Amino acid sequence: MKKYIFFTIIVILIVCQFFPIDKTNPEVDSTKDFLTMENPPTEVKQLIKTACYDCHSNETQYPWYTNVAPISWWIKKHIDNGRKKLNYSNWGDYEADKKQHKLKESAEEIHEKQMPLLSYFVMHPEAKLDDTQRQMIVDWIKSKQ
Ligand code: HEC
Repeated sequence: MKKYIFFTIIVILIVCQFFPIDKTNPEVDSTKDFLTMENPPTEVKQLIKTACYDCHSNETQYPWYTNVAPISWWIKKHIDNGRKKLNYSNWGDYEADKKQHKLKESAEEIHEKQMPLLSYFVMHPEAKLDDTQRQMIVDWIKSKQ
């Protein structure tokens, strides 16, 4: 019985590999990019890029484990949902109202430690923001509002 269960799991995992995720990033027009347009101080720029851009831009980097289903499906869902809510690569297309709203939300999410998503830190410890870094980003965003 045990053998049978093990074998079934292996077969399911193998079949999953036939459904890879689409890793083509939409084209990036750097003139519409949030960091290009708003031009924060270098340190803030780097923090936002490291902590947010994999899910909130069209510059997602896909490490090796994004080749492994079903983990890849779960990651892809985060990227799709993240981009849908906020895509820093399309900043130039956002209306003034929307920009203000997204700035406010970004500051809130960072301040409340809701973003980056906790699960992201498992493979991206470099994206962890300490309190000083969070404050630095929030202060800069507030100066834009
Ligand atoms: C691992 C992927 C990931 C990372 C990294 C990430 N986010 Fe998100 N973010 C998401 C997802 C997924 C959602 C949609 C969540 C939901 O609907 O609950 C989201 C939602 C948001 C929202 C919208 C909230 C709303 O209610 O509409 C903001 C603002 C946001 N993130 C800001 C950030 C900022 C700023 C960073 C970097 C400090 C960041 N995120 C990093 C995945 C991510």
